[in-house]
Amino acid sequence: MKKILTLIAGVAIVAACAPKEQPHSVIPQPNSMEIAEGEVNVAGAAFEIGEGLDELTLAAVKDFEARLETVTGRKAGSGKAVIAISKNEDLAPEQYAVAISEGKVVIEASALNGFLYGMETVKQMLPVEVYGSAKASAKWTVPFGFILDQPRFAYRGMHLDPCRHFWTIEETKRYIDLMAIYKMNRFHWHLTEDQGWRMESKKYPRLNEISSYRDGTCIKNDFESNDGIRYGGYYTQDELREIVAYAGSKGITVIPEIDLPGHMVAALAAYPELGCTGGPYKVWPRWGVSEDVLCIGKEETFEFLEGVLTELIDIFPSEYIHIGGDECPKVRWAECPLCQRRIKKLGLRDSDRATKEQQLQCYVTARIQKFLAKHGRKIIGWDEILEGDLEPGATVMSWRGVQGGIEAANRGFDAIMTPSPFLYFDYYQSWERDKEPFGIGGYLPIEKVYSYEPYDGLTPGLEGHILGVQANLWTEYIATEEHLEYMLLPRMCALSEVQWCDPEVRDYERFHTSLQKAYKMFDLMGYNYCLDGEGLIGLDRTPARSEEELEVYLKENEGKFW
Ligand code: ACM
Ligand code: ZN
Repeated sequence: MKKILTLIAGVAIVAACAPKEQPHSVIPQPNSMEIAEGEVNVAGAAFEIGEGLDELTLAAVKDFEARLETVTGRKAGSGKAVIAISKNEDLAPEQYAVAISEGKVVIEASALNGFLYGMETVKQMLPVEVYGSAKASAKWTVPFGFILDQPRFAYRGMHLDPCRHFWTIEETKRYIDLMAIYKMNRFHWHLTEDQGWRMESKKYPRLNEISSYRDGTCIKNDFESNDGIRYGGYYTQDELREIVAYAGSKGITVIPEIDLPGHMVAALAAYPELGCTGGPYKVWPRWGVSEDVLCIGKEETFEFLEGVLTELIDIFPSEYIHIGGDECPKVRWAECPLCQRRIKKLGLRDSDRATKEQQLQCYVTARIQKFLAKHGRKIIGWDEILEGDLEPGATVMSWRGVQGGIEAANRGFDAIMTPSPFLYFDYYQSWERDKEPFGIGGYLPIEKVYSYEPYDGLTPGLEGHILGVQANLWTEYIATEEHLEYMLLPRMCALSEVQWCDPEVRDYERFHTSLQKAYKMFDLMGYNYCLDGEGLIGLDRTPARSEEELEVYLKENEGKFW
């Protein structure tokens, strides 16, 4: 602690001058920040790099230096200021300290993530042109101050569905870049679905040949329609590794998901013998929940899952593997002699808490959990895994509201909060549906994202079970990058403050002021974003209706929107 205190003392003299009220626009807002009179011009600043920094940190510092050279047009070392990057073992891995005083910016951390976050904060305090790709004329100063900052939650995630619509490796990297700006550290990659399987398998090549393509896609929400256009793709194992490394260099762990035992129609299309009826099946062209799921009466099903998971864990070093578990109808199992034989053999009976078929899903969850545990991994499952018994060590992802997270904590399990009413970014952002790109439904304006409090409803004392918070971006109705970014931004900025900021630091007015600078950053980086929250609706940004006009519009459409 001694070293941090020295740093604080150095700045205390500076900070004694009157602090400004809103001196910057950092998102997420640092949890402790003092700003003072005075500033440092970092154009041409020399970089002083301390001892003991790892390779990834050194590379990130080099990137920061190169970026400053590009946007200021000054070689590092040609100016007066110094940017010192030094290791401080007294700080936690995601904590950082920044001290800005006469001629000097000091960034201290103990590990990659802290350094990344310290540099990102300094970047956001600079003129927004720092996010551009060319030399810009700006006053390259940061105000004097001291920041000691760390996240409220350890798990700060963003999810992406590349199955309903496919996102290239380059698009996925741009998505991860945004996560890095907002200090997120878990990328939940939903790699398998009824409509497409996206992970290359060497062991099961038909997953690549058959499961990764569908013959067509339904049009909007008319499930009986089909556009007749072959659609799909998959990521090679090299590409998957490339994303793991890319995210890792930005302090982000990739959590892959193999959704089981439901949402498996694409796999069944290739290996119909793994279903209860034997098929035939085809990669699903429509949205919704299929009654066709994996047959749990067959040992081949487990051989297949273990084979796929063995390949998966070789690619993804994440401690947590997401095994899905959501929306698994039990109608096939109820009629399948092999599934019923397994139920009988296991002695499963309907109980107050779960039907025998629900308990059969518990058996799948426990068996896969045990397999992964043998390889040193832990499971995350959607909140349906709470229906029946759950083995210790499982983590629950609460999506059907907050109840799953609350129940998980009450039963002694860890939980990650992704409640759909607050954090499903496929929901609409305004009620003016006629001006919005077609979507799944719902209504989730940015203010509602911002208002989410992860401990609400939780039994006091069980806060430690809430590992963190994540928003989910399902892509049934999102087919272009322009639309994807429109759904993501700026709601992701609000999410970042829910994940990072202590409750007393959160303040929508201050956040909304900061957003104005974020919009300019998106423009410079070529990201699309939604301005519904600013009264400009839809991709075309047409002015919002007046309150009276909106009332008339909603009356005209009564009962049509959820
Ligand atoms: C989910 O949204 N089906 C987890
Ligand atoms: Zn079966």
